[in-house]
Amino acid sequence: MVQTLGVALGAGFAAVAVLLHYVSGTGWEPTEDISAEVLERRAAAVPETDFPEPMNRAIGGGGAALPAEGADGELAEGETEAEETGFDPDAIAEDEIEYHEVEFAKEGETIEVANNETILEAGEDEDWDLPYSCRQGQCLSCGGQVKDGDADEYIRHSNNDTLSDDELEKGYCLTCTAYPTSDLTIETSETP
Ligand code: FES
Repeated sequence: MVQTLGVALGAGFAAVAVLLHYVSGTGWEPTEDISAEVLERRAAAVPETDFPEPMNRAIGGGGAALPAEGADGELAEGETEAEETGFDPDAIAEDEIEYHEVEFAKEGETIEVANNETILEAGEDEDWDLPYSCRQGQCLSCGGQVKDGDADEYIRHSNNDTLSDDELEKGYCLTCTAYPTSDLTIETSETP
């Protein structure tokens, strides 16, 4: 009798287990993954830049920066061509190198300076203690004054971020970026 009851119970549990196996479940579905959609929306919200970026942005769909030009190659409104500043002394070919007599008034000497050498470098080669700071035409520490007149007629700057046209006309120059184009007399340590 006990054995029959045990078999019956076992059969019952087995039937329940089989039944549960085929029941369709609770209807629960996992939430849809919307991370890609969120990233896309954030990407659309990030404005494009018109300057080159060192690398693509991870989010934002930036990719390579677009040039600031219209489809027809015109510069976008408000954009200007890079301003022409100075010249490149390294571009002077060997056979185009010329030497000019430069009188350093305060030092009391006249030396030859090549047109691919700055007045500051030439003076330093003479062991004169001339003033300078940035050596890039961005300050006024190395200022000098051409005594003969308009500086532009005697030297040319590879870079001049400091002196105005008016100051150049008065003979002022930045000796660290000034290359002679003619014989001249200069007073070092002179600034406007
Ligand atoms: S050292 Fe700065 S402009 Fe010459």
